[in-house]
Amino acid sequence: MIKKIFISALLCCTFLTANADEGMWLPNLIGSRIKDMRAKGFRLKAEDIYSINKASLKDAVVQFGGGCTGEFLSGEGLLLTNHHCGYGSIQRLSSVEHDYLTHGYWAMSKEEELPVPGLTVSLLVRMEDVTERLAKGEKAEDIIAEAKKGEGYRASIEQMYYGNQQFLFVYQTYRDVRFVGAPPSSIGKFGGDTDNWVWPRHTGDFSIFRVYADENNNPADYSKDNKPYQPKRHFTISTKGVDEGDFTMIYGFPGNTQEYVTADAVEYVAKVSDPMKIALRTQRLEIIEAAQAESAEVRIAFAAVHAGIANAWKKWQGEVMGLNRLGTVEKKRAYEESFAAWAKTKPEYANLLDDMHKAYEEVIPGYYMRELYSESIATIDAYSFARSLWTAVTRAEKEGKTYDVEKAHQNFLKTYNQNIDQAIARRMVVEFCERVAPERMPADLKVQINYYGGVEKYVDALFRSSRLLGKEPITVSDVRGDAMTEFVRMFNTIRNDALNYSYRNLSNVPAVEKYYRPYMRALREWDKERAFYPDANFTLRVAYGTVAGYEYADAEYHHPVSTIDGIIAKDDPNIYDYNIPQSLRDIYATKDYGRWGQTINGRYSVPVCFLATNHTSGGNSGSPVINGKGELIGINFDRTWRSTMSDIEFDPTICRNISVDIRYVLFVIDRIGGASYLFDEMNLK
Ligand code: ARG
Ligand code: ASP
Repeated sequence: MIKKIFISALLCCTFLTANADEGMWLPNLIGSRIKDMRAKGFRLKAEDIYSINKASLKDAVVQFGGGCTGEFLSGEGLLLTNHHCGYGSIQRLSSVEHDYLTHGYWAMSKEEELPVPGLTVSLLVRMEDVTERLAKGEKAEDIIAEAKKGEGYRASIEQMYYGNQQFLFVYQTYRDVRFVGAPPSSIGKFGGDTDNWVWPRHTGDFSIFRVYADENNNPADYSKDNKPYQPKRHFTISTKGVDEGDFTMIYGFPGNTQEYVTADAVEYVAKVSDPMKIALRTQRLEIIEAAQAESAEVRIAFAAVHAGIANAWKKWQGEVMGLNRLGTVEKKRAYEESFAAWAKTKPEYANLLDDMHKAYEEVIPGYYMRELYSESIATIDAYSFARSLWTAVTRAEKEGKTYDVEKAHQNFLKTYNQNIDQAIARRMVVEFCERVAPERMPADLKVQINYYGGVEKYVDALFRSSRLLGKEPITVSDVRGDAMTEFVRMFNTIRNDALNYSYRNLSNVPAVEKYYRPYMRALREWDKERAFYPDANFTLRVAYGTVAGYEYADAEYHHPVSTIDGIIAKDDPNIYDYNIPQSLRDIYATKDYGRWGQTINGRYSVPVCFLATNHTSGGNSGSPVINGKGELIGINFDRTWRSTMSDIEFDPTICRNISVDIRYVLFVIDRIGGASYLFDEMNLK
């Protein structure tokens, strides 16, 4: 009770300033937060987190593949990440005979580790604020060229605070990465899309890889002579467990947040963009789900497509709910009003908000078109196929070459499902026509719709007449004259325009973004109490908080730790997402948990997942969850969907990240995988 009054008192005064636990901090500047971290239970120093002179925790954290995080578990390059981050690699290594997604896989020796072609892991060598160097006239290219001198080094300069600060990031990229093991999907993806973004959660979302290097510990292409990479630092693993209130720190690569955008931008997200995208995806999901319910074959074939559509769909719903619940638009308007009152007397800032408002008015119609197009027309498989054919044919013609259209056609047909695609196309073209601004409606499309007497009649005729979708072999001239190619051409202008708006967020479109640089500068001058941190941009960050449950609804408190009892409660051989391996049922039946057993919430069980208050985002998947002593206690993999507005406004009362407890990871390796030999190279404490 006392705690709650304290929290709400805190909220009213620090309104829109960095709330407790809000923030994704730059590791080399973590010194400014260390007092607060220590007050919450952190026991180490800033240089234990980031140092260029000695090994620090940053040397144990990597960027995994394109968009995830991973961490070293041993001095021999053993690497932990999420199952959903390793998913693509595991899928590529799988075949009908060796289905590692379904059955899991455990290499029982280094010889059995499976090379993953194309998979890379990047380590941060160093980061540096280069704002002054650039201001003094040094060229970015020169700074980057100088920084790249090193085996497998790459470097880039990233913008912080909309270009008010520039940071150089130097990475070393390793390209011999091998798959060591993963549990079956019935553990690694337990709960599937049903439980995605949801608490209570029981997913053993982990997979294990190993990084290999040449004899000098440098990056190398795959070779059987390569040796396990020796990281400067790897994690000690705590098997002591977590309790509510314990300090937690997340060290990883969050991808995209927009905490400082003005009310106009939030309004666009909450009232225009998210609702449109949700509505369109709801229809696509309904069509796919109906077909999946009819056929097991379709269920499997569309599983990944469905997951891809549903993931953001659910996230956006939570985001809209959260923004509305917090009244973010109204709060930001009030905040901007007080800012404007301060800025009035400052010539360089006085017109800023008006200018931004006008810029948004100019940019939103085009940005919306891009989003509408990519969520509707561009999701039609026949459209995308016809477009790629047409592009390839035209390019080949220009180069005086020929393109094998029939080969591409046969390839396309292998996985094409016309029933589903046509049903989607009917809905998507209808939605497009209803939502497009009249002056942007393609004239030819209007003509066709009028001719056929309605959108759906036109779409059906289009799919009926297109030779690209039929089994008969096709030629280049078929492609040229095809109705689907015609349909593609109708959207040429819209597609080209969309390219002009292909920025991460609405506020990053240059015509708007240019005002954010002075705006951010002004905010930092004006709002001196606020603890500013740069928006996430796939660079390495530290977030910290505590293990905590939350009040889900009136009188409904969600405890922060889940156990395998909850897995057993959900277990159902008839429900795909909840059908667990028999071995887990057997272990549960005997309650013989060995060293992993523990009394939790009053029952003898094994911990599975836990909640904490860390500020995370997409890209933080796979990030190490670290305790006050710097030891590994879990792997971050998700948030609750109702806290996803944290990408725009973080609310400490409800925003929670979800992690797999490291003890469940160890339990599964040991008792389900029978691969406890891997513990020999780990530091378990
Ligand atoms: N929601 C998590 C994230 O945003 C996990 C997604 C993977 N899991 C799934 N069931 N689709 O990426
Ligand atoms: N599941 C996300 C990821 O894959 C993490 C999040 O959005 O919280 O990075």
